[in-house]
Amino acid sequence: MTRDARFVTFEGIDGAGKSSHVDWFAEQVRGRGHRVVVTREPGGTELAEAVRDWVLNRPMSMRVEALLVFAARQDHLDRLIRPSLADGTWVVCDRFTDSTVAYQGGGRGMPLEDIALLERWVHPDLQPDRTYLFDLDPDTAARRRQAVRDADRFESEQSAFFTRVRQAYLERAEAAPDRFVRLDGAQPIEFIRKRLEESLSGL
Ligand code: TMP
Repeated sequence: MTRDARFVTFEGIDGAGKSSHVDWFAEQVRGRGHRVVVTREPGGTELAEAVRDWVLNRPMSMRVEALLVFAARQDHLDRLIRPSLADGTWVVCDRFTDSTVAYQGGGRGMPLEDIALLERWVHPDLQPDRTYLFDLDPDTAARRRQAVRDADRFESEQSAFFTRVRQAYLERAEAAPDRFVRLDGAQPIEFIRKRLEESLSGL
């Protein structure tokens, strides 16, 4: 793998604002002369996008949810993420395994060691170089979501679910302080972009 290429992920509870920064961030990376692919999870390949539709819209147990998101992730890694990084192309991904830890672990209550097992199986050798965690209180995030879209299976969860998701994210970030940058989702867009830009310089 060309070490020049970086794997960057964006994380946070639904409505925390991350998605509005992903394309902008990729443009900044491009502006510094790198090739970049922008992608998302669940999704990023034809198969994984089909899985996304199931996971977001069909009732299923938390184990099936976890297995499906990891199946989608395996395909995404095999067909897009690893080949891109090997080719020297940066990968900017909206959500990755931290989402499984936060949503299926924190939110649904799946034991974290079960998720760690799947993580070791699917990507024992690869972690994002940088993860931006958009942190926001669940009530503000819920108000933002209601203003812009119809809710999917996750977005229709109650505030207590998102409180657990947020807590799991914060614990995961605390355990990997070199990888995570926590951003306050309540701050104005321009403020957040400034912090992203500063942090990109150190990548
Ligand atoms: P998005 O709309 O921000 O792309 O997120 C899709 C939803 O999927 C979001 O509510 C979080 C959920 N999700 C999981 O539950 N587990 C995962 O591993 C991933 C990647 C997403």
